[in-house]
Amino acid sequence: MPKVTYFSGETFPLEMHKVRIIQKLTLLPIEERLRAMEEAGYNTFLLQNKDVFLDMLTDSGVNAMSDRQQAAMLLADDAYAGSATFTRLHDKLTEIFGKTYFLPAHQGRAAEHILCRGYVKPGDTAVTNYHFTTWKAHVTALGGSVVELLKKEGLETVSDNPFKGELDVPALNALIEKVGADKISYVRMEAGTNLIAGQPFSLANLREVSATCHAAGIKLVLDASLLADNLHFIKTREPEYQSAPIRQIAREMADACDIIYFSARKLGFGRGGGIITSDEGIYRELRGLVPMYEGFLTYGGMSVREMEAITVGLDETMDEDMINQGPQFIAHIVKTLDAAGVPMVTPPGGLGAHVNAMAFLDHVPQTQYPSAALASAIFIASGVRGMERGTLSEQREPDGTEPLADMELVRLAVPRRVFTLSQVNYAIDRVMWLHANRHLVGGLEWEEEPELLRFFYGRLRPVGDWQHQLVAKFRADFGDSL
Ligand code: F0G
Repeated sequence: MPKVTYFSGETFPLEMHKVRIIQKLTLLPIEERLRAMEEAGYNTFLLQNKDVFLDMLTDSGVNAMSDRQQAAMLLADDAYAGSATFTRLHDKLTEIFGKTYFLPAHQGRAAEHILCRGYVKPGDTAVTNYHFTTWKAHVTALGGSVVELLKKEGLETVSDNPFKGELDVPALNALIEKVGADKISYVRMEAGTNLIAGQPFSLANLREVSATCHAAGIKLVLDASLLADNLHFIKTREPEYQSAPIRQIAREMADACDIIYFSARKLGFGRGGGIITSDEGIYRELRGLVPMYEGFLTYGGMSVREMEAITVGLDETMDEDMINQGPQFIAHIVKTLDAAGVPMVTPPGGLGAHVNAMAFLDHVPQTQYPSAALASAIFIASGVRGMERGTLSEQREPDGTEPLADMELVRLAVPRRVFTLSQVNYAIDRVMWLHANRHLVGGLEWEEEPELLRFFYGRLRPVGDWQHQLVAKFRADFGDSL
């Protein structure tokens, strides 16, 4: 999206695409939204889509496809082995990233599984700028431990640091010294770092990490699931790259890494994933795991139609007008809410707008899950489904103790090319109303707590009766409005 200044002098996001297929939405009255939230055990993952107005849970697998992607899907070459579709995707990945080998997987966490099975041994340390839930679950399931070396500024919620996803290189050197390079499975850099509000790292930082890893003989792995946002931020925030084409930035990032894996539910506007590398040794080490866990080497669990869509989607990811759309909508949400006094994570990142639930609900103790409580309250107030990204998304230690998250966030994800600006403005309005009434919102407690990845399917209930007070205030303020 180009930056267009209005006659008023203000700048608003402007979509460089038009809508050609639509899906009808419903906005239920608040009493029915409350009923739906109760049925979902105050966990937005358990809501039924028919009860949701704007689905801002995630941008995973729900980005809108283009006409070119839909057209390409018709050309899919169905074959168990050796399909031309696979070759097209393989060649596109090689063209963009310069890596010669591609191991397909059905989604991002499947690629994580293969990389962890291949390289994490019991007692190993897996290093990262910041963990992602599914990756950490794989590392720990295999007896490894995760060490996060995010620079400490990365956890400051309010900041003007353009690259809060950076890894602390002196700390990496110290860790290598302490545990020994042979005990480090690999170093993983996550582009557009998900759990800290979609914050990017600079290419300068990636290069430094790369030099340190390679001097010690450690593999550098890039999680490129949220690469599109990170590319946009390098282009707009890193002075050396302001006139560099996106393709050049992508290639320079790839050149710094030994292995790249991705979820194509995010990167490429499709559904799938995989691992790429130019190292024949790595390819051979991991190759056997693909037919065992995913599918034959030329589909890896993906449908051929999705592979065609990803090939075109990757091309579209190299188009600045396309990858600007998410970050510009997100910046609009963050800046408008921030100006209204709502505590937001700044600077705006990729993936979605992130509300600082710890500050928003500063009267709710962290042990009562303020992020989950706020995500439920936002749904009740608006029909907008966001996602808890806080203590609930952590897992308990083996001894049962509960680590409190570094940040308590609610993310309002912005799937690419899906919402209009008026829908986004509605979400902004209802979050503002909730902020004005935040004292009404209380905490949550467990009704049913699963042991593994509890945030996906655990059930909770309100502490007290705050949900009914919220509905009563909504009716008093808005009358019979939806
Ligand atoms: N890495 C990152 C950075 C992710 O954000 C995700 C998924 C994965 C790996 C796993 O990929 O879902 O295809 O298996 N993030 C989704 C989200 C779930 O909603 O943020 P996957």
